[in-house]
Amino acid sequence: MMKDGSGSAAAVVCCSVLILLISSAGFCSGGVTSRFVRKLEESQDMPLDADVFRVPPGYNAPQQVHITQGDYEGKGMIVSWVTQDEAGSSTVTYWTETGKKKVANGRITTYKYYTYKSGYIHHCTLKNLQHNTKYYYEVGTGQNTTRQFWFKTPPEVGPDVPFTFGLIGDLGQTYDSNSTLAHYEKNPIGGQAVLSVGDLSYADNYPNHDNVRWDTWGRFVERSTAYQPWIWTTGNHELDYAPEIGETKPFKPFTHRYPVPYKASDSTSPHWYSVKIASAHIIVLSSYSAYGKYTPQTQWLQDELPKVNRSETPWLVVLVHSPWYNSYNYHYMEGETMRVMYEPLLVKYKVDLVFAGHVHAYERSERISNIAYRIVSGDCRPVNDDNAPVYITIGDGGNIEGLANNMTEPQPEYSAFREASFGHATLSIKNRTHAYYSWHRNQDGYKVVADSVWFYNRIWRPYD
Ligand SMILES: *[C@@H]1O[C@H](CO)[C@@H](O)[C@H](O)[C@H]1NC(C)=O
Ligand SMILES: *[C@@H]1O[C@H](CO)[C@@H](O)[C@H](O)[C@H]1NC(C)=O
Ligand SMILES: *[C@@H]1O[C@H](CO)[C@@H](O)[C@H](O)[C@H]1NC(C)=O
Ligand SMILES: *[C@@H]1O[C@H](CO)[C@@H](O)[C@H](O)[C@H]1NC(C)=O
Ligand SMILES: *[C@@H]1O[C@H](CO)[C@@H](O)[C@H](O)[C@H]1NC(C)=O
Repeated sequence: MMKDGSGSAAAVVCCSVLILLISSAGFCSGGVTSRFVRKLEESQDMPLDADVFRVPPGYNAPQQVHITQGDYEGKGMIVSWVTQDEAGSSTVTYWTETGKKKVANGRITTYKYYTYKSGYIHHCTLKNLQHNTKYYYEVGTGQNTTRQFWFKTPPEVGPDVPFTFGLIGDLGQTYDSNSTLAHYEKNPIGGQAVLSVGDLSYADNYPNHDNVRWDTWGRFVERSTAYQPWIWTTGNHELDYAPEIGETKPFKPFTHRYPVPYKASDSTSPHWYSVKIASAHIIVLSSYSAYGKYTPQTQWLQDELPKVNRSETPWLVVLVHSPWYNSYNYHYMEGETMRVMYEPLLVKYKVDLVFAGHVHAYERSERISNIAYRIVSGDCRPVNDDNAPVYITIGDGGNIEGLANNMTEPQPEYSAFREASFGHATLSIKNRTHAYYSWHRNQDGYKVVADSVWFYNRIWRPYD
C-alpha cells in the first residue's frame, strides 16, 4: 500500500523529481512490469500499393467512409467520406430492415495543405434515429458509383445498459497497425464503438506532412470506421502545425476530415466535447489546446462535470492524448501541467477511468490521486484514493515510431501493470456497478488476455 509521505525529507522539494525521490528513498517498487519477449524491429508503414489502401473501384467512388456519434444521446450519426474525381452528391440514403428509405443532405469541404489538395470531403448527419437499431446506408447516392454500409445505433442511455467499447491509440498505418485493427475486429467480446485516444495517420512523419497519408489511413480503417462509430480525440500528430511550409493553422487536416458533435455538449471547439453512450458519459479533452485557468476548455469542463447524471450514466470516462501518469522514459511528465490543472476536478466528480495514448506502450495505474500538492507543503506523492480514476495508457496501436520500451526503474508504486507491446483494449460495461476491462497484445492474436481487471463504479460501488 502507498503511504502518505508527510514529514519526509522530501517535504520542500518540487514534485518534478518525484520519481527520483521515491527510488532514492528506497521505497519498494510497484506492480507488474511484464518482460514479455517481443520482436523489437521498427514498425514499417504499409506501402502505398498495399491491399488496405486500395481505392474502391468505379468512377468517383466514395472512399474513406467513417462514422461518429452525431449528437449527445446517440440518436444521431455523422457519416463522412471522400470523393476524388468530382464533388458528386453529399446525400446519404438510409433505411432499417423494415422501414422506408430516407435521405439526409450533407455538406462538402475541401482544404489545401502545402502542395496537397484534398478530395471532396463530405459530412452528413443522420438525425432522429431509433436506438439499438441496424441501419443500412448508401453514399454516392444518385451519382456514378454508390457504396453501401451499415451500422447499429447505440441503445438508449440508461444506468444498467451494457455496452462494449474498443480502445485504440496511436494507430498509424504500419503492418502492426493492421494487426491491431484486425485483432480488435476479431475480438469475440464484440466492441460496439471505438474510443480513439488520438494520433491517427502519422502523415506528419512524411516530408511536408504528405497528406496523401491521411487518405491512405482513411481507406485503411474504413473496414471498421464505416460500420461502427469511432469517438475521436486529438493527439499531437493531428496538429499538422508547420510554419516552415506556411501551414500555421493547427489541426487543419483533422478538423476537415473528422467532425465531432461538440456543439451538442455546449462546447465551442471540436477538440473538447462529450457524448453519452449507453451507461457511459465520455468526456474528450485536448492535450494541445489551452487548459489553463479561464480558458475555454477549462470553463467547459467545469460546466460539464456537474451536468453528468450518474443515475443515468453511471460510468464517467475521460479520453485525453498525453497521459497524466506514465512511468516510461518517453514523453515523461508531458501530461503533468494538465494533470495539475484537471486532476482535482476529476477526483471531485469521481471519474471512473482516464484513457490516454501518446506513449507507445501499455500501462495501467492503481486508483490514485496526487492533488494535495502545494509547493510549500511538498505533499506531492500519489496516494491511494477511492474517489480517483484509474489511468490507462493505450498508445500501443502500432505506429511507425516504434515501441516505447525504456521504463523508469523501479516501477513506481502507482503503476499496476506495464508492458511494451502493441495491442488494443476493450471495456465491457455490464451494469451500473461492474465493467470488465482487458488488454490484448498483438503477438498473442486476439484471444489471449494479457491484462484484465474488473472495474467497480465510483458512485454505485465505490470500493475495490
Ligand atoms: C491487413 O490485414 C487484413 C486483415 O487481416 C489483411 O486482409 C490484409 O492482407 C493485411 N494487409 C497487409 C498489407 O498486411
Ligand atoms: C457521373 O454522374 C454524373 C451525374 O449523374 C453524370 O453526368 C456523369 O456522366 C457521370 N460520369 C461518369 C464517368 O459516369
Ligand atoms: C438523472 O437521471 C435520472 C434517471 O434517468 C432521472 O430520474 C433524474 O431526473 C435525472 N436528474 C436530473 C437532475 O436531471
Ligand atoms: C532510458 O532512458 C533513460 C532516461 O532518459 C536514459 O538515461 C537511458 O540511457 C535510456 N536507456 C536506453 C537503453 O535507451
Ligand atoms: C452486475 O454485473 C456483475 C457482473 O456481471 C454481476 O456479478 C452483478 O450481479 C450485476 N449486478 C446486478 C445488480 O445485476
